Order: sequence, then structure tokens, then C-alpha cells
Amino acid sequence: MKDKFFITTPIYYVNDRPHIGHAYTTVVADTFARFYRAKLGAENVFFLTGTDEHGTKVAESAAKKGLEPQAFADEVSAEYKNVWATLGVSYDEFFRTTDPRHEAIVGEFLTNLYDRGFIYKGTYKGWYCVGCEKYLSFEEIKDGACIQHPKTPLIEQEEENYFFKLGDFSKKVLAEIEKDDEGAAADFKVGPAERRNEILGKIRQGVNDVSVSRPGVSWGIPLPWDKNHTVYVWVDALINYYSATKIFTDKNGSGDGKSRERFWPADLHIVGKDILWFHSLVWPGLLLASDLALPRSVFAHGFFTVDGQKMSKSLGNVIDPLALVAEYGVDATRYLLISAFTFGSDGDISLEKFKEKFNADLANGLGNLVARVAKLAEKLDKNPVEINSAANFLPEVEKAFEENRPDKALDSIFSRVKTLDQKIAEQTPWTKEGEELTALLKSYMEELLIIGANLSPFLPATSAKILEIFTAEKITKPEALFLRK
Ligand code: MSP
Repeated sequence: MKDKFFITTPIYYVNDRPHIGHAYTTVVADTFARFYRAKLGAENVFFLTGTDEHGTKVAESAAKKGLEPQAFADEVSAEYKNVWATLGVSYDEFFRTTDPRHEAIVGEFLTNLYDRGFIYKGTYKGWYCVGCEKYLSFEEIKDGACIQHPKTPLIEQEEENYFFKLGDFSKKVLAEIEKDDEGAAADFKVGPAERRNEILGKIRQGVNDVSVSRPGVSWGIPLPWDKNHTVYVWVDALINYYSATKIFTDKNGSGDGKSRERFWPADLHIVGKDILWFHSLVWPGLLLASDLALPRSVFAHGFFTVDGQKMSKSLGNVIDPLALVAEYGVDATRYLLISAFTFGSDGDISLEKFKEKFNADLANGLGNLVARVAKLAEKLDKNPVEINSAANFLPEVEKAFEENRPDKALDSIFSRVKTLDQKIAEQTPWTKEGEELTALLKSYMEELLIIGANLSPFLPATSAKILEIFTAEKITKPEALFLRK
């Protein structure tokens, strides 16, 4: 049994506005945070998210808008915060890499590695993609362009970089990931299985040392021992997970003085598959070299396409999470995102499917069920249910979270909605009276209280409403939970 749970999302680049790709990761991470808060107590969970604000890409986006990078980062970072607030994302800390305290910690972290002889000066020659903020390997280049960003010209560069001796640590990282094979509780788990195998294969092929600094990139954290260099944005960003346990602020940034060091190391880094390499090799390599504990697990989810196509500005198919909230409301948007496809696999989403799902699962499904039972229960003089306030999570919900499958947990709750619907159709309570009716309604209400309680990590407001309706002394038919579209 865990005694604390430290969960993170990637910190998002501020060169892009928040879209549903970012919302997907963050909302799913939020379900873990809420689940573990209910189990372990809120004070034992640390849910971290934030923005990644340095680097060439951000500086270029700021220049295009005629803004200083910091002013630009302030603006976009605030947008992220706003979207998370709207979606009910219950983070404990919103981290910004331009926080001067983080800049100091990054400096100390790298100076320590430099002093230990794990960082050296060398020359790098290769093709840099500003879209990815990294040098590309041969496999990542097609027809002279980056596969991910075919329209962003590659920059051929030969420059002096400081390098971290990742090659020296890769065998150790490999061994830590492989320990998982023995079936014993692994120290460092990478998942899901297929992606873990990909990573293992890549590490076995051999790993080069990686740059930790670049010259001539002004929008970044200067290296303490060589001010002509700034810290490579990926290294700066990864260290956020560590810094956040060292900087003790509350949501308003005013500082609650409570130490978060006891949360180290992270229990779960949730990332998209695009950045698993950085999290399952570079990050643990840096930690091993620093004698810091490795995260307990890194889990990569898949990417979704929209109507079969990659989501992109040029295709004009980027979905704004706030537009979804305007159409469907907060809880329904969370539902549509979490249940859209298997967590860990790739998938496809479409606005049309969202609408169908909204109507089928929420308006006609859960919403209608709650309304029907409440309407019948209005006839009763008093609530027949003995309220047990300490509702537990269902075993299948617990198990799904242990497998990093909140989508499966949600699915199992909604299959109970269907089962109860069928049961009511068979038992035709509207034809019953007196004690018989009371007994049937009692069983429906008990089941709805289980459903309501188990929905709390996913649809927090709906969960609270269901619990309120069916724990009231006298039931009254509430307003519809979801209005059919
Ligand atoms: N700043 C880095 C992360 C540093 S973490 C130390 C970064 N930022 S990002 O803004 O590009 O966000 C990438 C993340 O957004 C992905 O890992 C994924 O979580 C999410 N997604 C972006 N597009 C997505 C989809 N189309 N589908 C699913 N998730 C997507 O990389």
C-alpha cells in the first residue's frame, strides 16, 4: 500500500495554446490525483503540472507576436491555468520553468554533475529541429526534413556543447527497467509493455552522450560555470519534477512553507509517447548520476488523430478544450476525453462521435437513469437507504488504476449504469406499490450511490450531485444532469 502519491504531467511548451491533446493528458492525470486523494488523504498526494517556457521555439513565437519572451510566456502560461481551472484540474502546483528558484536549482543540479566529472565540453555536429527542440537522428529525418515537422527547415549545426555522459549510465538504466521482467516489484517501471520494449530495444543498440547546453540561445538558464551557454531546454524542463519538491509554494505562489521533499521520487510520470525517450532514459540517467532516487514509473499514452488526421494548425482541425466545455459542460468534456480511446494506445476522435457518446452515455444513459429513479423515489415519504458515508472504490476501479487504465475504470462504472437500466426495465417498478416499490427503489438508490461515489475521480460535480440527491432525507426530482444535444 502506498503512503504517498506524486503524479506529474509533462510541462507544456508555451509556444502553443492549450489544445485537447494537452487537455487529454492533464485530465487523465487529474483522475489519478483525485483517486489517490480519496484513498490516501489529500495531504498525501502531490499533483504537479506546469509550463515549459525556455528555448528557441518559445523565443521565436514571442518575437512573431512582438513580445519579450517573458511577457509572452506569462500570457500563455496564464491561458493554461485558465483552461485547467475550467476543466476542474485539481493540481497542487503549477510549475513554471522561468521561476528564478527553479533556475537556481537547475544551476546547482548541473554544477554537481560537472563537479562529479559527468559533464564535459565537446563539439556537436548535426541537424537541429526547432519544432522538436532537439538534434535529429537519421531515423527521424525523411526527404531532408523532420518527420514530425516537415515544414520547419532543419538547421545544420556544428557547435560547442556541454555533454552529459548518458552513455555511461544507459546500461544501468537498462538494468533498472529490465528488473521488471523478474515479476518482482520493480524500482523503475516503464509502460505500457509495447513502448517499454521499444525503449529497451533502442537502449540496447547503444546510446550517445547528450547535450546539456547550447551556446547562442539567449532565452534559457545560463550555465553557472560558463555563461556563454544556456541549459538545453529539455534538461531544464525535466528538472522541474525535482525542483517542484524543493520549492514550497501553494497555488497562489504565496508559499505555504510546507516541505514537499517527502514526495520524492515521483510515483507516476504521465507522458505522451512522443516524449517517452526523454523520461525513460535521459531523466533516469541524470538522476542516477546525481545519486537521486528514480521515479517509480513512467507511463506513456498514445496520440489521437482527429477524424483520421493529425491535429494541426494548417489543417484547421485543432480542437479547443474550452469550446468543448461550452458545448457539453465540464464533466461531459472530461468524460468524452477520458473515454475516447484506450489509455496507452493510439486512437481517433471526432466531434461527431463525441456528440453520439454524449447523448448515448450521458444524456440518455446516466442522466436519464438518475432522473427516473429520483422521480419514482419522490413518492416515498423518506429515504429508505441507510447511508454509509465511507463509500469505497469498487475492486475493478482499484485494479484499473493500478494498471494505469482510468479509462477502463470509467468504462466499468458505466457498464453498471447499463445493467441498472436493464434491471429497472425488467422489474417495472412503476407498476409496483408499497413495500415492494420501496424495496426496489432502495436497491436502485444503493447502486446509484456506488456509481456516484466511484465517479468522483472522473466527473467530480456529477458525482457530488448524485450523492446529494440520493442521500437526501426526502428525494426530489433534480434538474437534468445532461441535456440531450
Ligand atoms: N515541453 C515538453 C515536455 C517537457 S516535460 C519535462 C513538451 N511539451 S508539449 O507542449 O509539446 O506537450 C506534449 C504533450 O502533449 C504530449 O506528450 C502529450 O502528453 C500531449 N499531446 C499533444 N498532442 C497530443 C495528441 N494529439 N494526442 C495525445 N496527446 C497529445 O513536449
